[in-house]
Amino acid sequence: MANATAKPAIQIQPDQQALFRQAAQRVAELLKQTLAQRPQAFLALAGGSTPRGLYQQLGQLPTSLAPDWQRIQFFFGDERAVPPEHPESNYRMARETLFEPLGIAASQIHRIQGEAPPEQALADYRQRLQALPQQDGRPCFDLILLGMGDDGHIASLFPHSALLAETEHSVCSAELAGRGRRYSLSLPVLNQARHLLLLVSGAGKAATVQQALGTIPAQPPTLPVQQLHPQRLEWFLDQAAAQQLPGENVS
Ligand code: 6PG
Repeated sequence: MANATAKPAIQIQPDQQALFRQAAQRVAELLKQTLAQRPQAFLALAGGSTPRGLYQQLGQLPTSLAPDWQRIQFFFGDERAVPPEHPESNYRMARETLFEPLGIAASQIHRIQGEAPPEQALADYRQRLQALPQQDGRPCFDLILLGMGDDGHIASLFPHSALLAETEHSVCSAELAGRGRRYSLSLPVLNQARHLLLLVSGAGKAATVQQALGTIPAQPPTLPVQQLHPQRLEWFLDQAAAQQLPGENVS
C-alpha cells in the first residue's frame, strides 16, 4: 500500500559523476537486498538521457558490489512509440549502456514494443507485467528508477496529462503534443513500488526540484513528481539540481 506519509530520503552529490557512482551503489544494494529474500528481482528502468551515466556505472561495479544480474528481470517505466533501434528508444539506450556491457540475456529484458500498433504494445506489456508479484491487481516492482523533466514529469506522465488519472490499467499510452505517442507505467504502479529512486541532475531542474521538495508554504502539489508516494522514495541529486533547496550552498 502506498505510504503517503514517509518523507523522501534526499542524497546530494557534488557533481554528476559522483551522483552516478552513488546511485549505482544504491541500486546494487537494493537489488542485493531483494535477492537475499527472493529468487529474482523486478526492476523498471528510467528513460531519457540522465540515466546513461548511472547504467554505465552499474556495468562497471566490482563483483563484490554487483547483484547477480542473471536474477534480475528488466522492465521499463516508459517508452516512446519508436522501433528498438531508434535513437530515441529508451530500450536502445539501456541496451547500449547496460544490457550489452553486462551480457543480460534477452529472456530477462521486457521492453515496450514501441514499433507495434498501440493496442498490441499495451497487450504485450500488460501480459509481461503479470509475471511480477501482484498487489491490488497491479504489478509490484522491487525497484523503479525514474528521471524527472524540468516540468516535473516522471516516466511519460506529464503535467495535465490524462494519463495521470489512469487507475484501471498498469500501463497506458497517449499521443502527446509535440512528443508523439508515449507509453508509461501508471501512477498507481509507480506508487506501489517497494522502492523508487529518482535521479535528477543539472541546474536546469533546480527550480522544479525546489518546487517539488522545497519548503514553499502550502503550495498545492501540482507537479506529477509530487504525486509519487511509494513505500520508499529516494531522491538522488547533484549539487546543481539541488542548489535551490533550503540550506544548499552552491559550490
Ligand atoms: C523519457 C523519460 C523521462 C525522463 C525525463 C528526464 O522517456 O524521456 O522517461 O521521464 O526521465 O524526461 O529526461 P532527461 O534525463 O533526458 O533530462
